[in-house]
This record gives sequence, structure tokens and C-alpha cells, in this order.
Amino acid sequence: MIDYRRLRIALLGAGSVGSQVARLLLEQRTELADRAGADLELVGIAVRDVNAPRDTELPRELFTTDAAALIHGADIVIELMGGLEPARELILEAINSGADVVTGNKALLATSGPEIFEAAEQVGASVSYEAAVAGAIPIIRPLRDSLAGDRVKRIMGIVNGTTNYILDRMDTEGADFDAVLADAQRLGYAEADPTGDVEGFDAAQKAAILASLAFHTAVPLESVHREGITTVTASMIEAARHAGFVIKLLAVAERMDTDGQESISVRVYPALVPREHPLASVHGANNAVFVEAEAAGPLMFYGAGAGGVQTASAVLGDVVSAARRHIAGGVGVGESTRANLPILPIGAVTTRYQITLEVTDQPGVLATVASILSDGGVSVATVEQTVVDGAGTARIVIGTHTAREEDLSSTVQRLSASDVVRAVSSVLRVEGE
Ligand code: NDP
Ligand code: HSE
Repeated sequence: MIDYRRLRIALLGAGSVGSQVARLLLEQRTELADRAGADLELVGIAVRDVNAPRDTELPRELFTTDAAALIHGADIVIELMGGLEPARELILEAINSGADVVTGNKALLATSGPEIFEAAEQVGASVSYEAAVAGAIPIIRPLRDSLAGDRVKRIMGIVNGTTNYILDRMDTEGADFDAVLADAQRLGYAEADPTGDVEGFDAAQKAAILASLAFHTAVPLESVHREGITTVTASMIEAARHAGFVIKLLAVAERMDTDGQESISVRVYPALVPREHPLASVHGANNAVFVEAEAAGPLMFYGAGAGGVQTASAVLGDVVSAARRHIAGGVGVGESTRANLPILPIGAVTTRYQITLEVTDQPGVLATVASILSDGGVSVATVEQTVVDGAGTARIVIGTHTAREEDLSSTVQRLSASDVVRAVSSVLRVEGE
């Protein structure tokens, strides 16, 4: 091996992702050195329990429970512990002690990103986080670097592998939600607490990170509208299929222009996607992100959105970049948030909807429903009525034209209160048409 300068790499966490990062750093040390122009020496791995079983065989002597001591003297700190604390404190400590940081911790970046980036900027350190969004897929670097000269208009993506895996198996096999979630946990896709996945928190964190990068605006997590998939039932999936759609948990971030005033909207919800749309054929734990930029036009990024070894690829890419920068000198690339665009509440967003109602099957009902919709400013595009049972119930599936969310939700409330409506079975947004 060429006598490269040695860089000390400290790894915090050896779970699904960390253990694979450690294995690859050790197994591919020579190759990585040639690419980075530096010998990447893994000096230690901090965990909670040094005796816990690992996904892969790693030298016992590298393990420690003293993360703070391990950071001291490291050139690059890889944080793959997850969670907010002590990850935040350790990352700040690493930055202040002169290290570059690589992390996959979207929960932390979506909540404490500004504080971490500010600390890095003050000392010229780099903070890289390709693994934080969409696992193995390169999306952070394309947004931060490749598209830095363009204007992103819209991002629409499947950014949570666990929920895509669950919805896909419910759709293709009629599988049961809880059983499939258990499989996603066993396969290492789900977060330590899978509520973060199924309730859309993980996707919302990723949406905040993507939107911040795409629109050069700090997007606080609280400003991301979030709905999860726990309300999605087998019958909703079946009805979607019947109508030519598939249900996907989508993260949507878009630039909007209201009367010449630019703003953005960032939201996560289960939506109906037409079966012929490329996002409809994203199966299993895969992720896909569509980026629509003014000059570049539509771009699609697709691949493994979760999984230990897949995510390790993104982490190692960041480590190699950080090593190159460390060797070459100069300051890390700062975050650009200077556009500071206002973020619209969900009520101001416009999309198309599909509303499914159970109604009394008698003359005049359709007219009553149509008049409630029209009074609410919601224009009907399609209507399909079927008889449900012999007890005088009919199902009406209404596809709307583009409507404002606040008009739609007040109209749904009026429908719900109407004598002719027995139940509002579902209200889903339609995206990708
Ligand atoms: P795991 O839960 O599998 O592993 C976490 C690791 O961190 C474990 O080794 C654990 O130690 C260690 N750890 C946790 N808390 C502490 C602490 N206080 N002190 C020392 N060590 C600690 O997480 P993942 O590998 O799945 O995820 C790591 C990060 O990567 C997270 O931020 C996650 O969101 C992100 N990510 C994960 C992906 C995936 O597919 N899994 C994909 C993309 C990003 P011990 O083993 O002793 O318990
Ligand atoms: N739990 C996350 C997911 C891991 O399912 O997408 C990848 O960030």
C-alpha cells in the first residue's frame, strides 16, 4: 500500500448500519485508501453493550462504551447510534475537537440540524449525511451540489422503506399490517421504535431535510404536515386498485406561487398514485425520489431506501469525501438557507382528492352530495356509485378536481354531518397525475 497519511476514524454505533460500515472499512481498507488518498484507520467502535451479538464478526478489541473518549483525537467521526441524545452532544463535541462528521441520523438533523451546521461552519468542519435520506440512494449530494445552479420546483418521493414494504405487501399479497411490520423490523428496515416509520415521522424528517436543501430554506420539522399509514386499511387498498391506483406514503415538497408571492409546502401522507406512474412500481423497501428542476426538468433517483449494507454504501461515500477534504484542507461546504421562503400550512395546499362515502341508497342522495361539494367550492371530476348490500347502502367514490385543502376538509365535515351520508370511509389525496 502507498504510504498514505493516516486518518483516525471513530465509529459511534454498530447496529444494522454501523456494523456493516465497520466491516467494509476493515475489509476494503486498501481500496478505500487509494480512493480517499488517505489510510482510513478504524480506531474504535462505541456501543452500549460490548458483548451484544453483531450482524457481522468484528474485532472485539475495537469496542468501547466510552464514546466521548473515542471521539477525542479522531479525524472523522461516524455517528450511527441514532436518536437525539447523546448523538447531538457527541457530534458537537466531535466538531469542536476538529473532526469532520458523517451521520445517517435524520431525526437529529431534522430537529438540531441548524445548531450542528452552525457549529461546523464556525470551525470549518464538514457534516455529511447522505445516508439520512433514502438509504443508499445518492440524493443529498445531487441536491446540494449537482443542482446548486438550478431551481428545484418540486420533490415527490417514497422516502420510507418500512412503510413502502408494508403497503406493497398489503397490495400485492393482501398481507396483514402487523405481520409485515414484524418482517420489516426483522430485516433491519424499521427504526428502533417503528412508530417513527408507520406514523410518518421518519418520512417527515427526511422531507424536512430534502426541502431545506432544495429550497435553500430552513424547514423546521413542525412545519411539515404529517400523516402515517396506520389508517390505511385492506379495503382502501382494494378500492384503490379497483380505481387504477396504488396507495404510497409520499413526501411532497413544492415551491408555490400565490399572487406573485413565493412560498413552499412540505407534507407527508398516504396518497393515491396512478398504477402507470413510475412511483407505483417502487416495490419492497425501495425508495424513489422525483425532483423537478426548472432547467434540468424531471429527474428520478431510485434504489434501496433502507438496510444495513445498502446504507453503509452512502456512509462510506461520505467518509471518502470527508477524508479527501481533510487531506486537501479548506473548509467544509456550509448549508445554504438564505432564500428563507415562507412555509405554507397544509390548509393552503391544493391537490386532487378521492372521497369514498357510504350513503343511503335512495333518490336525491347524489344530488344532495353534489350540492354539499359545490357549496364547499369543491369541483367534482368523476363519480362512481355501487350498491353495497341489501340494507339500502350505496358507495359513492368521488374524484375531485384540484381543491384547496381547507375547503376540502370543511366540505368533508359537512358531508359527514349530512343525513344521507352513513360514513365517510376515506379521503385520500391523488398525486402524480
Ligand atoms: P441500530 O439501532 O441498529 O444501532 C444503533 C447502534 O448504536 C447500536 O450498536 C447501539 O449499541 C448503539 N448505540 C445506541 N445508543 C448508544 C449510546 N447511547 N451509546 C453508545 N452506543 C449507542 O440503528 P441502525 O444501524 O439501524 O441506524 C443507525 C442510524 O442510521 C440511525 O440514525 C438511523 O435512523 C439511520 N439509518 C438507518 C437505516 C437502516 O436501514 N437501518 C437507513 C438509513 C439511515 P448496542 O448495539 O450496544 O445496543
Ligand atoms: N426506517 C427507515 C426506513 C430506515 O424504513 O426507511 C431508512 O432511513
